[in-house]
Amino acid sequence: MILLGVNIDHTATLRQARYRQLGEAVGGNIEPDPVALAFRCEQAGADGITIHLREDRRHIQESDVRRLGAVKGTRLNLEMACTPSMTNFALQLKPHSVCLVPESREEITTEGGLDVVKNLARVARVTDAMNAAGIKVSLFIDPDLEQIELAAKLKATWVELHTGAYANAYYSPGRAAEFSRLIAGAQQAHAAGLIVNAGHGINYINITEVRTLPHLCELNIGHSIISRALFSGIDEAVRTMKALMNPRQ
Ligand code: PXP
Repeated sequence: MILLGVNIDHTATLRQARYRQLGEAVGGNIEPDPVALAFRCEQAGADGITIHLREDRRHIQESDVRRLGAVKGTRLNLEMACTPSMTNFALQLKPHSVCLVPESREEITTEGGLDVVKNLARVARVTDAMNAAGIKVSLFIDPDLEQIELAAKLKATWVELHTGAYANAYYSPGRAAEFSRLIAGAQQAHAAGLIVNAGHGINYINITEVRTLPHLCELNIGHSIISRALFSGIDEAVRTMKALMNPRQ
């Protein structure tokens, strides 16, 4: 069975659109609460919850992460940049896993995978620190053979293959080539002893092809699930995605 990690960042995007300046000060009903949504996702069949604490704190706040981290039963995957402050934060929080991602202030969402080749020393420092603390590491990388090779050398547990280029090419002639790159990446990662996850831009349409990737363990999906939940509720959105991921279960 392919596992589903729901990325709930955009719940916080919606909250911040109204409450960014007011924060805790208004008290009472600060909605929507990502932690409450995380519970609902799990009740509906999500296998884990993913959040990205960005340097600019544009959506998820430290208090959200701490509240989620304190909840037993939630398998928390913390996406983070390879910075000393995020490393210290994660070592203190001890989430189930961290996913190392690139981060730039200008991007709207994570664009492109982490360049492990270019940032080898920095990624190695964070990976070593997490492994030593018993926090499992995933590297969010493009399906590029050199990146995958290094991920295995650094002793990451997972790679999360970036499906964004494939999702963007879905309705264009480039789709088949992008999907072939993902297949080759998944095969190479598996052969190197890495567990294969994937994420970014996965929706209720492209999932029928994405789920056929070889050796797939878990998908991290955010935007499409949160968007659908506006119309059908989070329970239906999670359940339907999980069913599309695993049609024969
Ligand atoms: N995986 C990673 C590493 C991400 O950064 C994101 C986006 O925040 C996702 C998965 C989910 O992407 P989407 O919101 O497009 O489903």
